[in-house]
Amino acid sequence: MKGLILAGGHGTRLRPITYTIQKQLIPIANKAIIYYIIEDIVSAGIKEIGIVVGPNKEQVKEKVGDGSRWGCQITYIEQDEPKGLAHAILISKEFLGEDKFIMYLGDNLIKGGINQFVDNFKNGIHSLSLMLTEVPNPEDYGIALIDEQKKVITKLLEKPKAPPTNLSIVGIYGFTNEIFEAIKNIKPSWRNELEVTDAMQWMIENQSKNASFNIVTGWWKDTGSAQS
Ligand code: G1P
Repeated sequence: MKGLILAGGHGTRLRPITYTIQKQLIPIANKAIIYYIIEDIVSAGIKEIGIVVGPNKEQVKEKVGDGSRWGCQITYIEQDEPKGLAHAILISKEFLGEDKFIMYLGDNLIKGGINQFVDNFKNGIHSLSLMLTEVPNPEDYGIALIDEQKKVITKLLEKPKAPPTNLSIVGIYGFTNEIFEAIKNIKPSWRNELEVTDAMQWMIENQSKNASFNIVTGWWKDTGSAQS
């Protein structure tokens, strides 16, 4: 299995801090956010990690290096413009190959790590898996609906105005390479981005319909806003 970390984008919601530092490099308790993410991925047994970089790519490369300090191998993938999470996956196709992979948004922090999530996805039959958690402001996130038995995801919506549930998509995803066909079939959203949530909804409707999930047990922070 491979890991994919997204560390591009302009971080506009965190200005002025992000005028001088790439969002994913901001230190929390004296450690860059992206370091926590690399540790989570390596701890789950994944040693090949791709990092999608954007405007401040040199800063990220300098701070993270080749991965040897974590015992992993890091490959950088350059995204010319922030055209969405699904676009970031698309440009990583060559790196990802046929393998299952975990995508971890570079501004997300969770307590409790991802070992259980990765194990379940690695050994399971699902083509898609997500980490979910209940939030007070679901309109700000991607939202999941699940079945009555609480086994599978039945529907996904990106930042709906009237969210039908408060179960938010945490920025940690498991995919098989079926995601690539889904991305080919979606159109850019109102914010002119290829949304991974739309691609996942396409998978649920048109492919195997079996999307699993794990609930975050500790806390979760999307550090993309000043408030969090
Ligand atoms: C992205 C996703 C959203 C998810 C969130 C988690 O939102 O599109 O589905 O809930 O990350 O951090 P963005 O941060 O791009 O607004």
